[in-house]
Amino acid sequence: MSIVCIDPVVAREKFLKRPFELKHGLSDHPLFSLQRLVELAKSLPRDRIEYNSGKVAVGVKPEDVPKIDMPAEDVIRTIETANAWMVIKYVNEDLAYNELLKAFVEEANAAAGKKPGDYSDLQGFIFVSSANSITPFHFDAEENILIQIKGDKFVRTFDNDDRKLVSEETLELTPSRHRNTKYEPWYEKRAALHALKPGDAVHMPYMVPHWVSTGNSYSISMAMTWKTPEVLRLNKIRLVNGTLRHYGLPQKPPGISPKLDALKVMAHDALRAVLDPLRKSESIRRFLRGLIYGRNANYYLEGQAKKAGM
Ligand SMILES: [Fe+2]
Repeated sequence: MSIVCIDPVVAREKFLKRPFELKHGLSDHPLFSLQRLVELAKSLPRDRIEYNSGKVAVGVKPEDVPKIDMPAEDVIRTIETANAWMVIKYVNEDLAYNELLKAFVEEANAAAGKKPGDYSDLQGFIFVSSANSITPFHFDAEENILIQIKGDKFVRTFDNDDRKLVSEETLELTPSRHRNTKYEPWYEKRAALHALKPGDAVHMPYMVPHWVSTGNSYSISMAMTWKTPEVLRLNKIRLVNGTLRHYGLPQKPPGISPKLDALKVMAHDALRAVLDPLRKSESIRRFLRGLIYGRNANYYLEGQAKKAGM
């Protein structure tokens, strides 16, 4: 049976360009039961799981997001009452989830008329959220299909073509900045609402700003993300720009100077060749983030650090 149901006409017009809705056949898949998610959380390093209170405002300041003092497995077990928001990151590192991701994204790409395997960095992020919780306004630096498994989810996607909502500077990439982005009430006029039930999905292209709320029961969903060669190129430039700005050297956005863009891509690749072998260890990943970007780079680990004995 097909696990993706996608209108080929819509897909060819909007895929990787504009948000649109589609359907999937994974709502009853055993990989998304609470028990299986508890096992998954236990099997992953601590920095692969991020969670906090789901009772926040859409435009909450990152430092004001309340933490939850409880191990991740307990948050999942009690998700009906925990008032929590959680993301289990990089579930693609588990073979079973990876197989599912590959099958899904390959099928969606084929429906949109893309060449097989014309992407990389296939990753999965499972969101486990209590009723009426909020994922504040933000954007993601990858292509994305969000599939709804359990409960209702309301996804607002925003038109940001003229950079009025999220500036080019904010689109620069640096771990020292919290994912949540400034939000003003007038932005809502530019929102498209996608009301997702189990079996529904929405495609969110690269850096489309969005905020999300759950309905009156807990929600499970998975973001399936991947990067095209163009996304990889833009991210390298935006990471270099964000890092240079951190050191007081603001840069022009990608596209203004192709020669400078190419130089930044080369510099990025050279540095990664040195750092990547070191990043296999969680403690070295944390050390490197802190060394290059300051202590804020590990912001999402601080709330539960004491509890986890770190
Ligand atoms: Fe997101």
